Amino acid sequence: MTPKSAYDAGAGPGFTPGEVTVHEQPAELAKVTRALRGTGRKITLVPTMGSLHEGHRELIRRARRVSGGVTVVSNFVNPLQFGPDEDFERYPRSWESDVEACRQEGAELVFAPSTEALYGPDPQITVNPGPLGDQLEGASRPGHFAGVLTVVAKLFGIMRPDLALFGEKDYQQLVLLRRMAHELHLGTAVQGIPVVRESDGLALSSRNAYLASEQRGAALALSAALAAGAHAGASGADAVLEAARGVLETEPLLELDYLELRDTELGPAPAEGEARLLVAATVGGTRLIDNALVLLGSSGAPE
Ligand code: PAF
Repeated sequence: MTPKSAYDAGAGPGFTPGEVTVHEQPAELAKVTRALRGTGRKITLVPTMGSLHEGHRELIRRARRVSGGVTVVSNFVNPLQFGPDEDFERYPRSWESDVEACRQEGAELVFAPSTEALYGPDPQITVNPGPLGDQLEGASRPGHFAGVLTVVAKLFGIMRPDLALFGEKDYQQLVLLRRMAHELHLGTAVQGIPVVRESDGLALSSRNAYLASEQRGAALALSAALAAGAHAGASGADAVLEAARGVLETEPLLELDYLELRDTELGPAPAEGEARLLVAATVGGTRLIDNALVLLGSSGAPE
């Protein structure tokens, strides 16, 4: 892949309007983002594993709203966050249409490194996500969050973004990344963007591409369960879980992994106020996750 832009012609930090500049070397992108920062531009990063859908497009559009900002989209299927029996090899890849989506949404830079360029020949260091990394998703996917945090720490180190945007669909990932940026003083603000859904409620995910039509129908039970749970918020935590579980149990194609109610930082659920209801299930071998805000107790009562 050849970087193609004014930068590479030695023109310094500028853009050809409507063009996307692709970089695959960390040092090269670090140089470009450093030069941009020097001119007062803010760097906003949208990290992705490619296979861009409307949820990613929304992240890019939000990034574009940062005034004086430059939007960088990273596109890298990170092997370190996949377990040995997971779908790294078959994870959907759609490079050409991804670059086109970035161009349409107005991202200026795309970072698409090879694994070797990003990890080097003999990587030794990973970021430990702490106890939360072994819970919820981490309980079923050992090492997953160490992989996510490590790759995002690399991206932050290379670009030093002012802001990085992530979808709330991967809520636990968002909480851990925010905590990493804060605890390690990385200097990047981490912001979550609400889950983008199909009109029937299904949360957008690159893995939805694996679902046959009957399985897609079954997957709708996840968002329906969250809606039922959120609706029961005024009656308290037990009622929320009971309502959500009731919906999930009606769907025979769905194998539930967990349904949990936590506080918004993923500690134990509060008795009152804001909580997060999180669900993970497998449908025909495809792992799906979703989550929703729930208002518990009197804060959840209708006005
Ligand atoms: O959410 C994702 O797509 C990935 O986990 C991320 C944050 C890009 C890291 O590889």
